[in-house]
Amino acid sequence: MSCRHLAAIDAGLGAVTTGHETGFTVDTSRVTFGPGSLAEVGARARGLGIKRAALITDRHLRKLPWFDEVESSLKAAGIDTIVFDEVAIEPTEESWEKAIAFANEAKPDGFISLGGGSVIDTAKVANLYSSHPAPFTAYINAPLGDGRAVPGPLAPHIACPTTSGTGSEVTGIAIFDWHAHRAKTGISSPRLRPTEAIVDPRVTHSLPAGVVAASGMDVLCHALESYTAKPYTSRPAPPSPLARPASQGRNPWSDMGCREALRLCGAHLADAVAGDLAAREQMMWAATLAGIAFGNAGVHIPHAMAYAVAGQVRAFHAKGYPELPLVPHGMAVAVSAPACFRATSATAPGRHYEAAQMLGADTIGAGEKDGGEVLATRFTELMKAVHIPNGLSGVGYSRSDIASLVEGALPQQRLLSNAPIMTDAGVLANLFEQSLAYW
Ligand SMILES: [Fe+2]
Repeated sequence: MSCRHLAAIDAGLGAVTTGHETGFTVDTSRVTFGPGSLAEVGARARGLGIKRAALITDRHLRKLPWFDEVESSLKAAGIDTIVFDEVAIEPTEESWEKAIAFANEAKPDGFISLGGGSVIDTAKVANLYSSHPAPFTAYINAPLGDGRAVPGPLAPHIACPTTSGTGSEVTGIAIFDWHAHRAKTGISSPRLRPTEAIVDPRVTHSLPAGVVAASGMDVLCHALESYTAKPYTSRPAPPSPLARPASQGRNPWSDMGCREALRLCGAHLADAVAGDLAAREQMMWAATLAGIAFGNAGVHIPHAMAYAVAGQVRAFHAKGYPELPLVPHGMAVAVSAPACFRATSATAPGRHYEAAQMLGADTIGAGEKDGGEVLATRFTELMKAVHIPNGLSGVGYSRSDIASLVEGALPQQRLLSNAPIMTDAGVLANLFEQSLAYW
């Protein structure tokens, strides 16, 4: 294989093996970004032909000025609005079913979601099941669910994120805790992607520092995992172009968003957590870019491990979050990330090195071969700077939990198969072990 050939693979520019993927698809919601953009919701909803909107939110957000702004904007546009504010902090089958029942009864012709990932995901699901009724298990990812393809378009959905993290406003993914199976899983389909995203960075101004830190770590991991995912050319070609998965692997489009998101995270995450409002707005833009990137590339091992870390929480409570045992998603992802990037580095050391540089790492005396190490070091520096706990032990786990954590992460094959390394139970056990503490 020539050097040029290797370079083409690294850039994801289509070095092709017979029977493998030759193209990638770019999908995203229409994005409106800017301070004050929440006031556009009504006009945009009317532009989509919505006459009767279901406004999905949670009880806490309903008391904030953003809710009044969105509701007034819808009213001013002459749109009949019905509110559902019972989204759970961590959605479950009960809370999803409640939202679906609400949508079936209210019969809206469009959805507006105002909230974090839980709210936006719940709106996606209420839209899906009221647009294409089916038994609850039908569209949920296999093997726990039936993995049925979404049969057609959904009603228009305008998503308005209120945290700078999940990227749910631009992805076709919805996640919940399926208590019956004691597992976190969800639905993944390009049809679930909101029609429009209205990203108003003012919403970040009043967020607790702990929320900015955890959601910032989520952004960082979306960008790093998408940037280091398997190249799209390494996947077997799908039987039909329409079956190309959203998690298609890293590609030139996702790389572009990842690079800028990483630069923004390196420059602004710590200041955003410290309360700098301009830095918080920059993190909102980073979240949007990283969301678009991972919605087109897919994340991998740290997110797969995070399902287990968040799902098996015992007593840990995070500052800035409700008084419940809870490892926030971004924190659950971050605690295993340094160990994972040390492990994936050998597949693309140059990319890991470049990512560390974009995050502002000190690389004096280091070279591409040290990519995993400099990236892990810079990542842990950022964890310390924004008060993320010291690895798994910092969120209440010990060595005796590893077997159960592996059991929780192993079913996340959609994510693990997007990783650049083969990740079986033994590899996961080793990664959990390496994630126990970093300093
Ligand atoms: Fe995430």
